[in-house]
This record gives sequence, structure tokens and C-alpha cells, in this order.
Amino acid sequence: MAKAKIIYSCTECGGQVPKWQGQCPHCSAWNTLVESVAEPVSGKNRFSALATTSMVQTLAEVDAVEVPRTPTGIAEFDRVLGGGLVSGGVVLIGGDPGIGKSTLLLQALAHLSTHKKVLYVSGEESAQQIALRAKRLTVDANAMHLLAEIQLEKIQAAIAKEKPDAVVIDSIQTVYSELLTSAPGSVAQVRECAAQLTRLAKSSAITMILVGHVTKDGTLAGPRVLEHIVDTVLYFEGDTHSSFRLVRAFKNRFGAVNELGVFAMTEKGLREVSNPSALFLSQHDVQVPGSCVMVTQEGTRPLLVEIQALLDQSHSPTPRRLALGLEQNRLAMLLAVLHRHAGIACFDQDVFINAVGGVKITEPGADLAVLLAIVSSLRNKPLPEKMVVFGEIGLAGEVRPVQRGQERLKESAKLGFTRAIIPKANKPKQPIPGMEIIAVDRIEDAVAKMRE
Ligand code: TYD
Ligand code: MG
Repeated sequence: MAKAKIIYSCTECGGQVPKWQGQCPHCSAWNTLVESVAEPVSGKNRFSALATTSMVQTLAEVDAVEVPRTPTGIAEFDRVLGGGLVSGGVVLIGGDPGIGKSTLLLQALAHLSTHKKVLYVSGEESAQQIALRAKRLTVDANAMHLLAEIQLEKIQAAIAKEKPDAVVIDSIQTVYSELLTSAPGSVAQVRECAAQLTRLAKSSAITMILVGHVTKDGTLAGPRVLEHIVDTVLYFEGDTHSSFRLVRAFKNRFGAVNELGVFAMTEKGLREVSNPSALFLSQHDVQVPGSCVMVTQEGTRPLLVEIQALLDQSHSPTPRRLALGLEQNRLAMLLAVLHRHAGIACFDQDVFINAVGGVKITEPGADLAVLLAIVSSLRNKPLPEKMVVFGEIGLAGEVRPVQRGQERLKESAKLGFTRAIIPKANKPKQPIPGMEIIAVDRIEDAVAKMRE
């Protein structure tokens, strides 16, 4: 094989240069050039590529057949995948170390191995360690093929020889290509290996599942481009101290995003939690100040989550604002809205907010619950019992509607909640039995009504 040519390409603009330099000559960004392998294009190839033009079709000529899905046998995993695995589809699954990525994939592959040919490529654990884990999980993995290898070319050769239907690469950061001189786990290696494996998956109709590590700030290590080249990106969330684990679809070319799969980590691996709506409520005998229950809508299902706030006299000229499971910048904005439109100032207070159970809430529908929890903590007065809250807050102090308000209210009523503070535009036309609806359209209105 002819030696592949190494070039340097910019992670910002995609521009290419033959030699490394500190600044990209195309877009002037600094430190963005990474090593990559140039596609060999000989003069002859270029000519033949021009001669055989690709066929252009109209949309009507294309057979729009639904892609068949192979269920993994784990319903919560299938839910986030949009029904199951797709042949030729590439899934990237990210999460903190020890959160359960390898466990989930081993369980899923074991199920699949009963009727499909599967290959588990591990660069992190030896075959013995995987066998031990399979034994511990009491899964039937006898038909599962294993490969402990980290060199891309050898992995590709093994896949070509074995012709599996599904392959797990655990993890993409450990895989390296001979053709690049940079170290395994570097941006160049991760990108090149993922691109090669994706190409292989597409050309041989193999389902490829890549495990990715996340960095301290919670994004997948390696370039963002990884998220672009794969079809589905899943993230594991959850507090490693609690036993619950959430798998969230962040991008899915074959299904809905923001779908959530809920699992509990047990001594026999991950167990599905099929009815998780009340999982993220902490148990209080009496109502405590600073606690407010919200209903968030995750994909197709509503989830009740307790938001906690703690305000404490600050001893620093710049008081602390800390948000766990919620957006930090949004907190600063909400505090400003609270001051300007409801006249409640928190500038001498340290403000801490937390979504119970390690769940991450990204939707703005949490705004109203966050503010009411803050006011409740500031005044040291608990909110009424059995109350749920949702609604987005705008900079003008208005309470904006959220999607699927009706479903959120129904789920809360089912779990025994009896009153709800919600945006006026979400007020249901028909009353919901057993549920008192308090519809508000301004933040000051909501604060006034929280104690009624
Ligand atoms: P693992 O799947 O190895 O995490 P990752 O691949 O994301 O790094 O998960 C390992 C953790 O899960 C480890 O801390 C032990 C725990 N665990 C259980 O509690 N029960 C089990 O049955 C297994 C296999 C692991
Ligand atoms: Mg692992």
C-alpha cells in the first residue's frame, strides 16, 4: 500500500495546509490545525471521477422505504435509539467514566447475539475482564465475538473477515491509526478513526456503536466533528452516587431527539425503569422552603423533577451563583428578571440551585419553578403541598407557554398533585379532575399567587 500523505486541516474552517503551523492561513484561527490523512487522488483517478458522473435523481424516483430497525431487547435503550438499531447507522455514546456505557452495551449486544452476529471491540478491557463482567451480568453472551485490539487497521481487517451485523468500539479514544503519528486519543486520531469506521459501517451496512469519553466540562473529548459524522449521539447522565442513569438522545437521524431512557444500576447491571416520572422527587414529610416540583417534558414523556434553591447571605462582593443540572447563565438572567419585574433583589445573596437526582434540565420550561424555589428560600416559606409548576420566563417578565402542557398536567394529576401554577396560554380548556389550575401571565403575578 502506498504511504498515505499527511496533511493538516483546520477544525474551524476545514482549510488544508501541507505543513503544521500555529495559525490557519485560511481563517486566521490559532491552534486549530490537526493532522489528518489526505485521500489519495491520482491524476488518473481524478480524470475517471470526472468521466463517470454520479446519477442525479428526482425525489419522486427515490424509494422512500422505512429503514428496518433491530430492537436491542432493552426497551429503554430502544426508546432513545428511536426504535432500535439501523444497519449502516453509526451511534456515538458518551458519558463519564464508570457511568455504565460498557455495561449497557454488553447487555444490549448479548441480547442481539442470540439472532445477529455481533462483535465487541475493546481497547480498555481485556477479553477476560469482559467475560467476567458478562458472567456477573448473567447474560447469555456465548455467541458474542470479542476482540481486544486498538489498532484501526487490524480492527477493520477483523470486521471485514468476520462480517458482523453490529460492532461496538469501546472506546473510540483508545483506537489509533498507523498512518498518523499523533498519539491515540488526540483530536487527529479520534477524528480519522471515527471517519474510517463510519465509512466502513456505511459501505458494509454494519451497525457501529462508538463509545466516547467526555471531558470535564461535559462535552465529548475530541472534535465536535465526531458529532457531525455519526447518525446518533447519546449521552449518559446521572449522578454516580445515585443508582439512576439516564440516556439522552442528543442527535438522531433516525428518531426523535431529547428522548430519555431511564435505568437503575444494580449488582446485575443496568435495569430498565419503565415508569420513571416520580423518580426525581426527594421525599419530605413536610414541605420545606426552597423546594418546588416542576414537570419537564423529555421527548415523549413527562417527568416530575424537584428543583431546590438555597439562598444565603453572601460575604463576598461578588455573590456566588451555582446551578447544578440547570443552566448557569439562565440563572443570572432569571435573577435579573426577578429584580426588575417583581422587585425581589438577591444581589446580597449566594444563590445555589439544583435539580434533584442528577437529572439535567435543558428546557426553559424550568424557569418559573426555579424562580419560585428562589423566592421560597429567600422568604424561608415553603410552597403549598402537592403543587407543580412549569413555564418559561421572558426578559420582559412575561410567563411564556411550554409544549405539551396538557400532558404535563395529566401526569402530575396521576401522581397525586392537586394544584399547578402554569402559563396562561397553557390553561386547559377542559378542567382536569382533582387539579386546581392557577394560570399566570407575569412573573409578579406568579409570585403573588404562590402562597394562595
Ligand atoms: P462501566 O460500564 O464499566 O462504565 P463505563 O464503561 O461507562 O466507564 O460501569 C462500571 C460501573 O458500574 C462500576 O463502577 C461498577 C458498576 N457496576 C454495577 O454496579 N453493577 C454491575 O453489574 C456492573 C457490571 C457494574
Ligand atoms: Mg467502559
